[in-house]
Amino acid sequence: MTKTVLITGTSSGIGRATALHFQRQGWNVAATMRSPDQEAAKVDSLTKLERVILLKLDVTDYSAIASAVNETIDRFGGINVLVNNAGYGMFGTFEAATPEQIQRQFSTNVFGLMETTRAVLPHFRDRRNGVIVNVASVGGRVAFPLYSLYHSTKWAIEGFSESLQHELLDFNIRVKIIEPGPIKTDFYERSAYRSSNSNLPEYDAFSDRVLAKLNLIGNTGASPEIVAKTIYKASTDNSGKLRYPPDLLAKQLLFARKLLPDFLFTKIIRRSTGV
Ligand SMILES: NC(=O)c1ccc[n+]([C@@H]2O[C@H](COP(=O)([O-])OP(=O)(O)OC[C@H]3O[C@@H](n4cnc5c(N)ncnc54)[C@H](OP(=O)(O)O)[C@@H]3O)[C@@H](O)[C@H]2O)c1
Repeated sequence: MTKTVLITGTSSGIGRATALHFQRQGWNVAATMRSPDQEAAKVDSLTKLERVILLKLDVTDYSAIASAVNETIDRFGGINVLVNNAGYGMFGTFEAATPEQIQRQFSTNVFGLMETTRAVLPHFRDRRNGVIVNVASVGGRVAFPLYSLYHSTKWAIEGFSESLQHELLDFNIRVKIIEPGPIKTDFYERSAYRSSNSNLPEYDAFSDRVLAKLNLIGNTGASPEIVAKTIYKASTDNSGKLRYPPDLLAKQLLFARKLLPDFLFTKIIRRSTGV
């Protein structure tokens, strides 16, 4: 029987590449996104592909999450894999962030992911089968300057996933964490938000210097297709493996993090980001 994946945030980048990759492997794809109308109008729209349905889903809207899960089950007869991909980076100095910006970062990256997971769990538990793939980041295990809010959401996903895997073991539901390094997508431009309290010029020189370095690193990132292939592997390898760093830089960073004492690793981060 044809398998089905539900993916959040498929309008661009990693989510879109993942939708395309699963479709090419013969899967049914519930490609969810905030603005399906915009997608339908694209020349290379996902709507033109067989076995793909577009569903409107903002992960901060809990009733939309329940509807998307139910619609996918009605349409394809079930869900085999959930890919929690939707997310964005909130960057800038922490002091300049507003309470609303902090809330929004967590509502999307953490609470949306948790609610989508909660919505598929009864279905996976009934079937005694399912895979939950959480797109975290290498930034869920190492931290760069000016990304304190983003990092805290990705570290939250790491802890959530690592714990959750244990209670789902008996139901044959596996949890996977994807840990990409810099990937060339809209993440660093269209999707990026900057902490907006502009009355703090004391930070300006630091912010300008470090952000220029970080954007440079982002622009030399790997392709989203590499991440899509890793997500597919994590979804289908039937292993108990938890963490999947897809690209070389992520693998190198995680290796260095494991090997080096804190003070040395911090020194390297500071030197490479212009601190
Ligand atoms: N690019 C990187 O370097 C990198 C590295 C590590 C991890 N990641 C993670 O990879 C995931 C995908 O990012 P990307 O690099 O592919 O960036 P992207 O191209 O900007 O894609 C982000 C996707 O998330 C969606 N999204 C944002 N807020 C949403 C919400 N409230 N509800 C539903 N969808 C929402 C966006 O939809 P709209 O089009 O509606 O905005 C878009 O489809 C994110 O979780 C990100 O943290 C990225």
